[in-house]
Amino acid sequence: MSFPSSPSHPCLEIDLALALRRATAEIHAEIEQLPLMARLTSKAVILDDYRRYLRAILSVYAPLEQILYARLDDTTRDRLGIMPKLPALIADMEEQGLTFNSATLAFAPGPALLDDLSTTVGGLYVLEGATLGGRTIARHLRGIIGAPLGSTRFLDFHGQNTATAWKRFTGGLNALVAQKVLVPDRVIAGALTVFAHIHTQIKLTPERSIL
Ligand code: HEM
Repeated sequence: MSFPSSPSHPCLEIDLALALRRATAEIHAEIEQLPLMARLTSKAVILDDYRRYLRAILSVYAPLEQILYARLDDTTRDRLGIMPKLPALIADMEEQGLTFNSATLAFAPGPALLDDLSTTVGGLYVLEGATLGGRTIARHLRGIIGAPLGSTRFLDFHGQNTATAWKRFTGGLNALVAQKVLVPDRVIAGALTVFAHIHTQIKLTPERSIL
């Protein structure tokens, strides 16, 4: 696999952020087309669709985030400027009056991931990148559903700082590659595994489940 170069240092640096976007574009598009997601981004979306989304994402997100953050050292975490989004997701669920069984969540399946830093960061790319689309989805939902939508803390996690946070994350990624802390093809493999897991789990969510 060949990696794109960074425009600022054409020969010296690999633009891993761009390589990740390219490598995961297909599976990302497949996720967008899943019935639950297509419904969320349609003009016919209703509050129950948002609630169904929160439930589905919680069961995928909770085990994933816990696994990935448990494997991350503080230095890399600071470098990437990331923090867990699970508290925001739980707050949104509570705001919608949705209950969940935390014991069940503890046993929700996670993906089989190699326990190395590159793979872990690849998985975190997926969770962090979702804030880009999340902000767009939140704006769409607010335009249709209005006030009953509540705070969308999870979907719009970084709010107005979304672009700045993403720049910091991708800048950190590329710097860690330049320092040879990360191995690009392992990061990409980690991202693909996590994306595939999310795809499978969301696909399993009943389209019209009772909330
Ligand atoms: C209806 C569902 C979704 C929609 C409409 C959507 C939409 C988007 C949009 C508009 C972007 C921004 C692209 C850009 O600024 O160039 C984006 C980026 C991204 N999304 Fe999604 N997304 C969805 C679901 C997800 C999910 C479930 C995940 C993973 C948990 C995810 C992960 C990502 C990642 C990693 C990026 C960053 C891509 C990159 O620039 O490297 N998305 N998405």
